[in-house]
Amino acid sequence: MELCKSIDEVRDFIGKQQKAGKEVGLVPTMGYFHQGHLALMEKAREENDIVVVSLFVNPTQFGPDEDYNEYPRDLDRDLELAEEAGVDIVFAPEADEVYLSQAATKVMVEGLTDYLCGAAREGHFTGVCTIVTKLFNIIDPDRAYFGQKDAQQVLVIKRLVKDLNFDLEIVTVTIQREEDGLAISSRNKYLDSKEREAATILYQTLQLAKDLINQGKRDAEAVKERLINKIEAEPLAEIDYVEIVDQSTLEPLVEIKGEVLMALAVYIGDTRLIDNLMLEVN
Ligand code: PAJ
Repeated sequence: MELCKSIDEVRDFIGKQQKAGKEVGLVPTMGYFHQGHLALMEKAREENDIVVVSLFVNPTQFGPDEDYNEYPRDLDRDLELAEEAGVDIVFAPEADEVYLSQAATKVMVEGLTDYLCGAAREGHFTGVCTIVTKLFNIIDPDRAYFGQKDAQQVLVIKRLVKDLNFDLEIVTVTIQREEDGLAISSRNKYLDSKEREAATILYQTLQLAKDLINQGKRDAEAVKERLINKIEAEPLAEIDYVEIVDQSTLEPLVEIKGEVLMALAVYIGDTRLIDNLMLEVN
């Protein structure tokens, strides 16, 4: 496995492979690997000749009061895990290699980013779209892999690819969970043992939503109220958002029908966790 820190180095390495007709899969990450990241790498390994993992804690997608400085980092451990997963290249640049101080260009996807995490985290998706665009231009992959845990991110990236004519396929991977249902996340590391227990409220709330819908409930406001009550009964939890939206537009639904996305963002103590569930409802 190669570790590349510079753009020239990674381009040189991948360019040679692409000239030899090899297909390249890219897994963009911010590191501190867990089973979620590894599932993306495994899928990329199955579908490509060369697997590139980018590992970059992207400063531009964090708000001023968010956890950029505290975000967990462990390059040595990540390199071991990536090697075990059969990754060919880890691209792990420093921030000043990626962002020129005089850079004046940002990539913004409109509309889809007005909802959910886009509404709750100003500028977040512009940071994500700008770094992902740069990674697509640097690596020029045939396929890029994203997790369904960040459902809105997948949708926004798919729109970006379509709108900017990137010639690549976006492949998604289902949410990887702990045994008790908690969606695996680098941020779970911030939870103490009481908070870790309380964090299962996200998955439990999504299960309640599923049960209510299976019982025939279709009034989005009424279902949302039940979900909100459930989360509010957990003393360590504080709601950022609870939404029932259309899977492709992210617009809030009045009637729960069609391709539905249930999405939650909840603070457990100081840690903001997200989770979601997609359902097809007749
Ligand atoms: P990061 O949070 O490191 O996540 C990297 C990828 O792993 C994302 O596509 C994310 O959806 C996926 N992932 C994380 N947890 C997962 C889980 N439990 N199950 C399935 N997939 C999971 O997302 C980012 O980084 C950044 O925004 C990035 C796209 C790299 C741009 O900076």
